[in-house]
Amino acid sequence: MHEVRGVVAKGRGEPVSVETIVVPDPGPGETLVRVQACGVCHTDLHYREGAINDDFPFLLGHEAAGVVEAVGPDVTEVEPGDFVVLNWRAVCGTCRSCRRGRPWYCFSTFNATQKMTLDGVPLSPALGIGAFAEKTLVAAGQATRVDPAARPEAAGLLGCGVMAGYGAAVHTGEVTRGDTVAVFGCGGVGDAAIAGARLAGARTIIAVDLDPTKLEWATRFGATHTVDASTQDPVEAVRALTEGNGADVCIEAVGHPEVLRQAFFARDLAGTVVQVGVPNPEMTFPDIPMIEFFGRGGALKPSWYGDCLPSRDFPLLVDLYLQGRFDLEGFVSETIPLDGVEEAFHRMERGEVLRSVVVL
Ligand SMILES: NC(=O)c1ccc[n+]([C@@H]2O[C@H](COP(=O)([O-])OP(=O)(O)OC[C@H]3O[C@@H](n4cnc5c(N)ncnc54)[C@H](O)[C@@H]3O)[C@@H](O)[C@H]2O)c1
Ligand SMILES: [Zn+2]
Ligand SMILES: [Zn+2]
Repeated sequence: MHEVRGVVAKGRGEPVSVETIVVPDPGPGETLVRVQACGVCHTDLHYREGAINDDFPFLLGHEAAGVVEAVGPDVTEVEPGDFVVLNWRAVCGTCRSCRRGRPWYCFSTFNATQKMTLDGVPLSPALGIGAFAEKTLVAAGQATRVDPAARPEAAGLLGCGVMAGYGAAVHTGEVTRGDTVAVFGCGGVGDAAIAGARLAGARTIIAVDLDPTKLEWATRFGATHTVDASTQDPVEAVRALTEGNGADVCIEAVGHPEVLRQAFFARDLAGTVVQVGVPNPEMTFPDIPMIEFFGRGGALKPSWYGDCLPSRDFPLLVDLYLQGRFDLEGFVSETIPLDGVEEAFHRMERGEVLRSVVVL
């Protein structure tokens, strides 16, 4: 058993607090990780607002890198001392999707079996991780070994938003050399989609946002053009930048029906719309004439975690980052201590940061 400090959300809408929590030693299939860095993601805020479920108290944090401290009896994937990035989709290998050779869609992902606790009460770890803590307990498949030369505060970001955005472009959207791409919403996820599209060889990358600062940041990740949707019709603007045709791949990275509608109509014939922004449960699909859906051809594709396979993609992206070809550092707006999470939520809401990263 380990007594460590962790960031807990005790009740709906209540400010989070740093508490002393108890983390068990790893049992079969589990890994204990000493967390070095963990990014603050919008999903952590959703948990504390009660927007995900009511299973308070939550142990927040899920975009993390650290060092394996101990492993359970049968664990072979990692060993103590390994530098790892945590993921929230440990692939099972045996569900109907895994058996068909499509593990990135795994329908039966899993987490640690034992519970971390606060005063004897089981904690619900955010996305099955809970890494705003000095140590956390995860399933061994949730820890992926990567090159230890990577800075933890940069590498950890692969654990959620950056992977989701990169994968939305490269895996789900299948952006390839010569494509035209439009990314709607240029937060951490949208900017990672832009960086992915650039790596994949897209020739035109249009960043769409309502915030001029976000558009400026998007150009650093590879946007070739920007559209301020607060002053311009984004559909017309994307068409104008693509010889009147629309983009081959339009990526929705906001999570809003109106933005999905724009992405749908800003797309060329036979183009692809990728939905990576997460809608809330009240939102409904935009009212689009069915003849437009049929007549335009192409595909509308939701993207879970960028259709990633952590064991394949984390080491690959860390290598590209270490070679200077993927700007993971660019997503780190600031580093903060464990007790700075509540304040970081407010900066996130005000749109002042791409990522605040807790460093332990
Ligand atoms: N699918 C997945 O697996 C996955 C994983 C992580 C995050 N996400 C989701 O991706 C989305 C983006 O995450 P983020 O961390 O980048 O959030 P963020 O809040 O940092 O960025 C959202 C951006 O969208 C912009 N925006 C808002 N309304 C807009 C509009 N109408 N038109 C254009 N731009 C607009 C904002 O100015 C902001 O820059 C969220 O919904 C998040 O939950 C999905
Ligand atoms: Zn599976
Ligand atoms: Zn996240």
